[in-house]
Amino acid sequence: MDDFLKRLPKAELHLHIEGTLEPELMFALAGRNGIALPYDSVEAVRAAYDFSDLQSFLDLYYQGMSVLRTAEDFHDLAMDYFRRAHGEGVVHVELHFDPQAHQARGIELETVMEGLGQARRQAERELGLSTALIMAFLRDRPAEEAMGLLERAAPYWETLDAVGLDSAERGHPPSKFREVFERARLLGIPRVAHAGEEGPPAYIREALDLLDVCRIDHGVRCIEDPKLVARLRDEGVVLTVCPLSNVRLRVVERLEDHPLPQLLDAGLRLTLNSDDPAYFGGGMLDNFRACYRTFGWSKEVFIQLAGTAIEAAFMSETRRLALHRQLADCA
Ligand code: HPA
Ligand code: ZN
Repeated sequence: MDDFLKRLPKAELHLHIEGTLEPELMFALAGRNGIALPYDSVEAVRAAYDFSDLQSFLDLYYQGMSVLRTAEDFHDLAMDYFRRAHGEGVVHVELHFDPQAHQARGIELETVMEGLGQARRQAERELGLSTALIMAFLRDRPAEEAMGLLERAAPYWETLDAVGLDSAERGHPPSKFREVFERARLLGIPRVAHAGEEGPPAYIREALDLLDVCRIDHGVRCIEDPKLVARLRDEGVVLTVCPLSNVRLRVVERLEDHPLPQLLDAGLRLTLNSDDPAYFGGGMLDNFRACYRTFGWSKEVFIQLAGTAIEAAFMSETRRLALHRQLADCA
């Protein structure tokens, strides 16, 4: 089974590239940029990753990314991740990135786009990995700031595969970003949003009804609202679920308590993803392995999950067909 899970062509639809920053690279970049870290060692960094909720993680996540300053830093961050993912049998990566968090530190959008763009082209060339780019708005910042970012991103509208919504969910409902997402819709940019991770099921409804998203990131709290589960099933809405993330951020106490099996039984379209692999104890393969150990799913279930990710990905139809073929061969 382990060999099968590794060979399975996995498309990752929910990943924050800043959340792939391993402590080793954090120290290397801090050294290169002359930045002092509040840790003595790589082990001390890892020991600090003991989270009580989303906010306690976000505090360290925003602190960690302070070492990213130049286009080369963003390139190295992304390439470091693409190589690891490729080694785990990941064939396609959709990366969220957080321009407002960088802007706040004086790092311009152009710098981030240049570094990520170089890494994406290199990954395609050297690893045969396809990628997509999702520009995320920070929901705990004002909607006007998000609108400003969307306008500033005009030179890149053509290169963005989607816009997303992340950061601290409680108290920041999707409705706050209705106009920003409407503007993205008019520009022809697809939309996704985190909803129902820590926030209530009502936020999932809002994301669908007010932001017109094509996927929900996380969405696991839909389980509290049977009518919503029925709607998600009827409309074929894809949820990008992140099992190990949900455990580490205490959305569920243990993986055994995760609603994944119930959501599958309810006929929802689900995908497995790593979210912030450097912080949550594992990448795509670890998430697949943990689900196998905990739920004992058959190969067919994993093929279904991998197939849904290929169906729901932002990729060319040629690439989609090739990956569906690769998946069929794997079975
Ligand atoms: N949830 C919300 N925002 C985030 C996350 C997450 O897991 N990771 C990075 N930004
Ligand atoms: Zn996320």
